[in-house]
Amino acid sequence: MRETMEISPVFIVLVLCSTATLVTCSTTGFRMELTHVDAKGSYTAAERVQRAMSSTRQRMVSLAATDVSAPVHWNTSQYIAEYLIGTPPQRAEALIDTGSDLIWTQCSTCLQGSCVEQGLPFYNASMSDSFHPVPCNDTLCVANQEHTCAKDGSCTFGAFYGAGDARGSIGTEVFAFENGTATLTFGCVKSLLISPGSLDGSSGLIGLGRGPLSLVSQTGATKFSYCHTPYLRSNATAGASSHLFVGDSASLSGGSPVMSMSFLEGPKDYPFYYVPLVGITVGQTRLSIPPSVFALKQNGEGGVFVDSGSPTTALVHGAYGPLREELTRQLNGSLVPPPARSGMDLCVAVAQEKTVPSMVFHFSGGADMVLPPENYWAPLDDSTSCMVMDHSSGLSIIGNFQLQNKHLLYDLAKDELSFQTADCSSL
Ligand SMILES: *[C@@H]1O[C@H](CO)[C@@H](O)[C@H](O)[C@H]1NC(C)=O
Ligand SMILES: *[C@@H]1O[C@H](CO)[C@@H](O)[C@H](O)[C@H]1NC(C)=O
Ligand SMILES: *[C@@H]1O[C@H](CO)[C@@H](O)[C@H](O)[C@H]1NC(C)=O
Ligand SMILES: *[C@@H]1O[C@H](CO)[C@@H](O)[C@H](O)[C@H]1NC(C)=O
Ligand SMILES: *[C@@H]1O[C@H](CO)[C@@H](O)[C@H](O)[C@H]1NC(C)=O
Ligand SMILES: *[C@@H]1O[C@H](CO)[C@@H](O)[C@H](O)[C@H]1NC(C)=O
Repeated sequence: MRETMEISPVFIVLVLCSTATLVTCSTTGFRMELTHVDAKGSYTAAERVQRAMSSTRQRMVSLAATDVSAPVHWNTSQYIAEYLIGTPPQRAEALIDTGSDLIWTQCSTCLQGSCVEQGLPFYNASMSDSFHPVPCNDTLCVANQEHTCAKDGSCTFGAFYGAGDARGSIGTEVFAFENGTATLTFGCVKSLLISPGSLDGSSGLIGLGRGPLSLVSQTGATKFSYCHTPYLRSNATAGASSHLFVGDSASLSGGSPVMSMSFLEGPKDYPFYYVPLVGITVGQTRLSIPPSVFALKQNGEGGVFVDSGSPTTALVHGAYGPLREELTRQLNGSLVPPPARSGMDLCVAVAQEKTVPSMVFHFSGGADMVLPPENYWAPLDDSTSCMVMDHSSGLSIIGNFQLQNKHLLYDLAKDELSFQTADCSSL
């Protein structure tokens, strides 16, 4: 995240671009700079790991408790995107989330105390020539979980998450990203009741899910990609930025091998990108996990999805149990008790970190994702290093910690997820 309030040259170019035709400006897609949320604060490794774990738990609780149309994406995202909104442009920052659809930002219509603190000023629609309210019979009004008609015929919405509710009006605006602009339908939030800290000082959310309101759907993009720079090594001055690519600019490069898998078809109207995880190997040992443990059931229960809004991976008990057991066996002699109140499960002394084996996620079709120890194990303090994975009930999610330095390409036309190991900070 840029620490200064300066608007960089690339943004100025885009502002000019935004007044020209959309087509010429957006043909190569968008490129957005992503910064680790925690890069903003001066957190220690222990604090970052604990924040990741507790955020994932919060998210799991919410997901498990919600029904189809109310996924939860608040207290969890680790990466925020910068963009400009309106004419003349106002700065905004958003958490990006593959698990939800709506794009929204807090607006200056928030009354005192009705929204949460953010680093930038609230977006003020009255100061923009390009804001337009969306009528309540518009399909992108109706696509909201809850929508009503205001007296003037404009659309108001409610979006419900496990950590709280967002309410406001639906409008259209010009969004200028690092490389590309688009007129998008979005939520102008005037009431946000959520757990403190959920937004981590950003202004809102950018949904990348499968539904019609997401950035991908609205732009008609058939693919997007992102690559998370290492979680613990990120800091505000160096190595902290990665990118989200939406549209043609999303592609994997030559170099390291590319693996692909088909997405699994989820229940209708779910925003999630389900992946066919079928097994896990720890060191040389393939865990004994029945396929049903990861299966996505007809009624929408179960399954495994990739979630850029979740800091860490959480596996259902039927998978976490065998994983824990095998690690305990292999790390026999190295394991130490987790620090009190750390919330961690398996830990070794920092000096023994090298005994931690690597792990492989096996997907059907033959795609194997190798997780080196640093993608699931992290120093909590000077003396103890712990596993950064959690257990869940109902469904499993693959979160950001496990995907560090993996470039993920969501190809919606092919209905495929591809990935390769990469140095994300160089993309
Ligand atoms: C929003 O902008 C309008 C027009 O400039 C101004 O009158 C109003 O005070 C602004 N609202 C806030 C909350 O700053
Ligand atoms: C919405 O209502 C207006 C006015 O009644 C009408 O002209 C327009 O076609 C409607 N739009 C849709 C998408 O139904
Ligand atoms: C931005 O778009 C231009 C063409 O419009 C393209 O040449 C350039 O590579 C893009 N830059 C990035 C960083 O994606
Ligand atoms: C998550 O929410 C809890 C309150 O439910 C809050 O204490 C915590 O700081 C939040 N975490 C983050 C990373 O914002
Ligand atoms: C943070 O950035 C500084 C300045 O570039 C760099 O020297 C330092 O190694 C970085 N710290 C970490 C933990 O990456
Ligand atoms: C740990 O290793 C020691 C020595 O190899 C062995 O005697 C002991 O039974 C092992 N403990 C477990 C729980 O596997």
